Amino acid sequence: MRDEARNTEVPIDWDRRGLPGWCYHSPSLLELEKNELFKTHWQIACHISDIPEVGSFLSFDFCGERALILRDRDSEVRAFHNICRHRGSRLVAKEQGKCANALVCPFHGWVYNLDGTLRGAARPESFPDLDKNAFGLQPLEMEIWHGFVFIRMRPGPQPMVADLLAPIEGEIAAYNMADHVPTDGMWTEESPVNWKSIRDVDNEGYHVALAHPALQDLYGSTYVDEPYVDGVSKSDGRFTPTKGRRWAVRNYKKFSKPQPHLSEHLHKSWLYFGIFPNAVIATTPETVLFYQEFPLSVGKSVIRSATYRNPNEDRQQRAARYLAARIDRETVEEDIQLTIWSNESMASDSFEGFYLSDLEYGVRSHHDHLRRILPIYNVEDTPREDEIVKLNASLSAEAPK
Ligand code: FES
Repeated sequence: MRDEARNTEVPIDWDRRGLPGWCYHSPSLLELEKNELFKTHWQIACHISDIPEVGSFLSFDFCGERALILRDRDSEVRAFHNICRHRGSRLVAKEQGKCANALVCPFHGWVYNLDGTLRGAARPESFPDLDKNAFGLQPLEMEIWHGFVFIRMRPGPQPMVADLLAPIEGEIAAYNMADHVPTDGMWTEESPVNWKSIRDVDNEGYHVALAHPALQDLYGSTYVDEPYVDGVSKSDGRFTPTKGRRWAVRNYKKFSKPQPHLSEHLHKSWLYFGIFPNAVIATTPETVLFYQEFPLSVGKSVIRSATYRNPNEDRQQRAARYLAARIDRETVEEDIQLTIWSNESMASDSFEGFYLSDLEYGVRSHHDHLRRILPIYNVEDTPREDEIVKLNASLSAEAPK
């Protein structure tokens, strides 16, 4: 369904080039991206059901930062830097777990209450002037949206999450996502490519017909991509009326049944909502999930994902969910290979850049969002590494506000 209010039509004359190849292999640019994209834009940390009880916590790292999400004694969700105020140790080392009624730093034993206040230092007599009020955990900016916990390391150009995602609120609300529960916990996988190569592949459905036989069997040419507008994109694949040639698709179509809480057009759709710069919330009739990618280095990234289900699913829905996950896993592995081929080509002298189809306008719209944050992406010829930061600053100063 096209949303005219979001101006999602592909323009007639658009620049079909993608980002220059050097942008995928530049350490200096990656540092700018960490600071101006990843740390200043909202990131999905988890779902509230990942921390179900008082003392439940979840931690994850990205771009040199460490985040800690936990439930305090009043069952409120809180977000902090996972950094002890004494000498910076991790407070929790595990990705997920539960603590009793306090966080005890594993280095020297400082103890923090679940609201982040410092309860006390070990050997307090050795800190005669310690002002406990000045040494609470550093909070992170946090917002919960339909059950998903978003955090932001620093203020940035995006509005609050509810405003950012208002254009997709209507459809998302139908899924009752806040009531969902985890299926298998957090899933992570390293990929040997620049993070943008992962996003480029994910931002278009032009490749589905050839590269993803299962998805083609599931929704085929019904798949429609809408580009990024104000930081949000949408893609929609509706089940084709065919039975399905592949075992998993055939049985998925058989078991997936209309969910009474969803409106009719969502009964047989997989939706993907892109959230700039690096995340997607996706829905099937049986599940909601998120995935995102973070850079580990210029040529290495980590993909992080989790899936959630309706808490009252029956056996048929469980079977459909299992089959959907199987189709999804197959797709992810196929995409990882495509990102590798695309990313490695950009280091070749013979790579002359993308030439994008109208069906890949989502890639261009994501790149245009990137260009607005860092105008250095507009520089076609490979700049010197030691000039990138300065050049970006001068291009930013010249850019129309
Ligand atoms: Fe945490 Fe010393 S670093 S108690």
